[in-house]
Amino acid sequence: MNIIIVDNEQQGAEKAFEQFCKAYRQGATCFGLATGSTPQALYGLICKSQLDFSRCTSINLDEYVGLSPDNKKSYHYFMQEKLFSQKPFAQSFLPNGMENDAEKEVQRYETILKGYPIDFQILGIGRNAHIGFNEPGTPFSQRTHKVKLTDSTIEANKRFFERVEDVPTHAYSMGLQSIMDAKEIMLLAFGETKAVAIRDMIEGNLTEDVPASILQTHQNVTVILDKTAAKLLTK
Ligand code: GLP
Repeated sequence: MNIIIVDNEQQGAEKAFEQFCKAYRQGATCFGLATGSTPQALYGLICKSQLDFSRCTSINLDEYVGLSPDNKKSYHYFMQEKLFSQKPFAQSFLPNGMENDAEKEVQRYETILKGYPIDFQILGIGRNAHIGFNEPGTPFSQRTHKVKLTDSTIEANKRFFERVEDVPTHAYSMGLQSIMDAKEIMLLAFGETKAVAIRDMIEGNLTEDVPASILQTHQNVTVILDKTAAKLLTK
């Protein structure tokens, strides 16, 4: 793992933007995208840039079950607002949170992933070291699936909703194996709430209890941290 530690989130976003541009220049055309507060500043920089995605594909990690694309809390809405409205891609894929038939949705997404292998995957990380919505205990071999969110994730994500009861209990998420198929991965983490997850991911054992620890086995991962997210690293 290539680990970059910067002073603050803004510098982290700038580093991440450099890394993103490098992949773009080297020919990446299919980008795996994440939601959450972490990649927002990076998306802001991409929006202000000259980058053109009219020949590119984007594939998002996850979507809440039960939220439609026009629901302001959905990841569809987030992506539209933060990136796609200003930087349209030739095609953009997200899981369909309104599909009740989980089997069908999982198949659809895996077919997309097969058809468009991800060149460059952006990741955030949950406080319990989840990536996408792959909660602790998810098998490393897992591909796209329907997930029951843990109480800790619901608690962490309630800040985006009016009430904790409004946070959906399930999501569709690319699996750990689907994420590992990306040629290159860039994980971003800022702030003290991520410090334990970052320590466990980088210095802990390779274990399904720490979903992000699977990245220890990927050949091309860059981790960009601010000082507070990195504060428990010892090496
Ligand atoms: C959510 C998303 C993840 C994201 C994580 C961290 O659960 N499914 O993809 O990385 O939250 O979010 P934040 O960046 O807001 O801390």
